[in-house]
Amino acid sequence: MRGVVAERVGPPEDAPEAVEGWPLARPFTIGDVVISNRVVQAPLAGIANWPFRLQAQRHGAGMAVSEMVASMGVRHGNRRTLDMLAIDPRETVTGIQLFGSDPSAMAEAAVAAQEAGARMVDINMGCPVAKVCKTGAGSSLLADLPLAERIVAAMTAAVRIPVTVKMRRGVTPADARPVEAARRFEAAGAAAIAFHPRAAAEEYRGVADHAFTADVVAAVAIPVMASGDIITARRAREVMEQTGCAAVMIGRGALGNPWIFRAMATGLPSTRPDLPGVVEEIAAFADDARRVLGDRRAMHFMRKFYPWYLAGEPVAQADVAALMTLEDLDEALGRLRDLAGSRPLASADRLN
Ligand SMILES: Cc1cc2nc3c(=O)[nH]c(=O)nc-3n(C[C@H](O)[C@H](O)[C@H](O)COP(=O)(O)O)c2cc1C
Repeated sequence: MRGVVAERVGPPEDAPEAVEGWPLARPFTIGDVVISNRVVQAPLAGIANWPFRLQAQRHGAGMAVSEMVASMGVRHGNRRTLDMLAIDPRETVTGIQLFGSDPSAMAEAAVAAQEAGARMVDINMGCPVAKVCKTGAGSSLLADLPLAERIVAAMTAAVRIPVTVKMRRGVTPADARPVEAARRFEAAGAAAIAFHPRAAAEEYRGVADHAFTADVVAAVAIPVMASGDIITARRAREVMEQTGCAAVMIGRGALGNPWIFRAMATGLPSTRPDLPGVVEEIAAFADDARRVLGDRRAMHFMRKFYPWYLAGEPVAQADVAALMTLEDLDEALGRLRDLAGSRPLASADRLN
């Protein structure tokens, strides 16, 4: 029997079959939430708002996780922070990631995420950025496991949805105790762990050594999602086989390449289109970005994406640089269409 993707977002006419026996095509569960395949869009600060997550899900990600949201911003009713909790009704399985170091503020924010429609709430214990760490949040929590456990327990007690932890191996390679940390989070109530095997002090240097991920998988009974340097379907399968992880998380590999999700979830070749198709994907994404951010912020937001989408495309560096100086989103999209030699497609023809 051929393996098929059990459940997916997108029009049925392009419902893909997976390569027979493809291990990432099978559903898995976190708590009582069923995820249709084993490819998860990683949390990405400043990027993973609902348009980005919806796009990932439309392109086959079984689940998507938000950018990190400040629990204190939620507590203080900061408008921009509250906006980050927004979940589009078309999203399938979305986790909202929170950061903070105060258990009661984290519990309150978890309730707010649940009310916003999150199917899961994730705790950031990986962020290496000084601004976050100096408040005791992010990867700093790995240096204070009793506090980290109190946060997990307070959140678990406050919400019905699963609480998950995204962690790095440790603060530094020397002090890293990922197995102990993961076991303690499981005991405190965590329903899954997302694991990036670099220590925070390593930032993004070197390669992600998933031998550490295998140790964590072996130590806990809850699902572990492997994160770090997984950018091809072949590597995704290798990491699953090497570690026994329940799923893989894709971060940088999806920037400018949402087609990666379906390729990983099915084992089939990528359906990345030619440049005009790429430009129409950017335009559809920009439309959603404009709805959530307004014209001006969407213009800035989209600038991050042009170099990612256009890397490897037949577009001159100077043209990419020129695109980044345009102050009007429609002008930038028009310029992109000129570069692609394409005319706007009727919305019905767009990838939906
Ligand atoms: C731009 C950027 C923003 C990120 N933001 C977050 C974040 O908000 N929360 C988090 O847990 N990890 C964050 N990460 C880490 C990723 O989720 C992921 O664990 C890491 O990039 C390794 O995976 P990759 O090699 O697939 O990118 C971020 C990474 C990048 C590159």
